[in-house]
Amino acid sequence: MKLFIDTANGSEIREMAWLVDGVTTNPSLVAKEKRPFRDIIAEICTLVDGPVSAEVIGLETDEMVAEAKELAPIHENVVIKIPMTEAGMKAVKILTSEGIRTNVTLVFSANQAMLAAKCGAAYVSPFVGRIDDMGGDGMGLIAEIQECYQHYAFPTEILVASIRHPRHLLDAALIGADVATVPYGVLKKAFNHPLTDLGISRFLKDWEGVPR
Ligand code: G3P
Repeated sequence: MKLFIDTANGSEIREMAWLVDGVTTNPSLVAKEKRPFRDIIAEICTLVDGPVSAEVIGLETDEMVAEAKELAPIHENVVIKIPMTEAGMKAVKILTSEGIRTNVTLVFSANQAMLAAKCGAAYVSPFVGRIDDMGGDGMGLIAEIQECYQHYAFPTEILVASIRHPRHLLDAALIGADVATVPYGVLKKAFNHPLTDLGISRFLKDWEGVPR
């Protein structure tokens, strides 16, 4: 499973660049940085050699396509994030036909994921955390989408998004999702286990007794 980091923060990306395979951003994450959008995306593309998702703001097909054509030339790794709407899917079809990769975002149903794949999206981003936040079953959606996709030769990769904790990361891998995009804090937590810490302490303590 590929690991992307879900942030627009250069410091977080710099710190984890050794590990991650790509980066996803969204308007809220970009807004936190208080810097011009294009500068942020251009910088991220120098930090990680992998797909970097940059989201359009427009809601109409022609607006999205125009924005995408402004963003895509920033770097060959730029992937255009398009919201899961009918207008967005028309934009995905147009952009795909022109060789511009898309990541369909704000996906909350298997039908939406199917339509995104039908339109040629490179990635589909189901938001598992926001579904869970509403008392739903976010990872159940991932399993549904995986089951649908496996019957067809869709090029679309399942990019599990809105990850809240390390269990989401594990569940994404157990289901066989292609990618998980993980916030910095969750990524850091995923390395840790209290028994590992205890084990290291015990080894170090026992080692004190080894004759030099
Ligand atoms: O960036 C897309 C997605 O991962 C954001 O999820 O719910 O943490 O805003 P959320």
